[in-house]
Amino acid sequence: MNCVEIVRMDHHGRGIGYIDGKIIFVPNTLVGEEVNVLIVAEKKNYLEGKVVEFLKKSSARCSSKCPYFLECGGCNLLHMKYEDTIKYKLDKIKSILKLAKIEFDDINVIKNEKTYNYRNKIELKIIDGKCGYFKNDTHTLVEIDACLVANPAINKFIRDINYLNLKNALVTIRCNYNEELLIVIETQDDMLIDTKYLASNHKLVGIVFNKKVMYGSPHFIDIINHKLFRVSYDAFFQINPKVTSKMFDLLQDNISESNVVLDLYAGVGTLGIVASEKAHKVYSVEIVENAIKDGLVNAKMNKIDNIYFMLGDVSKVIDKIKDEVDLIIVDPPRKGLDKKTIQFLKNTKANTIIYISCDPMTLVRDLKDLTSDYEIKKFNIMDMFSYTYHIESMVVLKRKA
Ligand SMILES: C[S@@+](CC[C@H](N)C(=O)[O-])C[C@H]1O[C@@H](n2cnc3c(N)ncnc32)[C@H](O)[C@@H]1O
Repeated sequence: MNCVEIVRMDHHGRGIGYIDGKIIFVPNTLVGEEVNVLIVAEKKNYLEGKVVEFLKKSSARCSSKCPYFLECGGCNLLHMKYEDTIKYKLDKIKSILKLAKIEFDDINVIKNEKTYNYRNKIELKIIDGKCGYFKNDTHTLVEIDACLVANPAINKFIRDINYLNLKNALVTIRCNYNEELLIVIETQDDMLIDTKYLASNHKLVGIVFNKKVMYGSPHFIDIINHKLFRVSYDAFFQINPKVTSKMFDLLQDNISESNVVLDLYAGVGTLGIVASEKAHKVYSVEIVENAIKDGLVNAKMNKIDNIYFMLGDVSKVIDKIKDEVDLIIVDPPRKGLDKKTIQFLKNTKANTIIYISCDPMTLVRDLKDLTSDYEIKKFNIMDMFSYTYHIESMVVLKRKA
């Protein structure tokens, strides 16, 4: 057993201490705490530990409201007060910017008003008939009967998950503004689902079994800021509706009247549709076919006739856009932008880039590159994933004179 004093936090919400000069990462600890730890992994340059006993606890410590907190690893900050999680995220962004030698300190924070039960989508594993999440970085199942951050309608469904009659499967549960559910199953099991029971006890819109609709519909309608969005079972949609609503407002506030807007990594066309109100023409580019089909329906439902959807890989489709572009919105997956797309952004005559990101490391890597031609004007972080170490950002860049 080793005694460790926690001196700072890492970017994954773990406390950092030292044993004989070697760094050790300890989950569920706070700065100033002293703990006896068990070393659970020994790597060349660092150790990973697990708290066995608290010798000194921080006065900032909270007791987690989730019974699975220590095992699950999904929400890493449940031992902190909400305000402290926000400070942690702000410090994290500032430290990543500092490491990249980007000088920008004026970070605006948009909080989440609903810090629990905010998720409209969760992904569960079913193994040998038991249901839960995988423990962080392992294939060990943590059995759950509810998830503190999931919408209550999702939790009600988890309690009836046995009616899916699955032994081994991946089950995604999606939920819309009206608590209607879309269930997506990937499995090699036989289809023995008790749809009659599930449909009479839940607002079940559809079940998609190995990419085939076995009940109802493969999509539902969600509503954010009075805008209607059809979302297919395999299309991306932001997981936190309240913060997404604020994100739409923020986007609108940062867009001036534009001629041509590019909405790259468009999903079902959400941001392009928001931007279309101030644009002459919007091109939305997305790689998932069903998301593009949703986008076309969404434009119609919202009575928008100046948005054009393009199916394909952004880095290839951008070659086809010949118009002079004023504003580019990019919202890539965690891996960020590829070199070719960054070069395209630099070469265009666009005056403004709005970069939305769910991974600060790749965001800052790309900003480092883009700031040769653009200047950061606004940096917003949005608490889309409360009580986790994840941060959603929206950065507004203007072309240098
Ligand atoms: C973070 S989501 C953003 C979606 C949308 N902007 C929104 O807010 O709902 C990223 C999207 O990029 C799409 N995508 C991933 N790689 C892509 C690529 N190489 N080309 C085009 N789209 C891609 C994904 O399918 C996903 O819909």
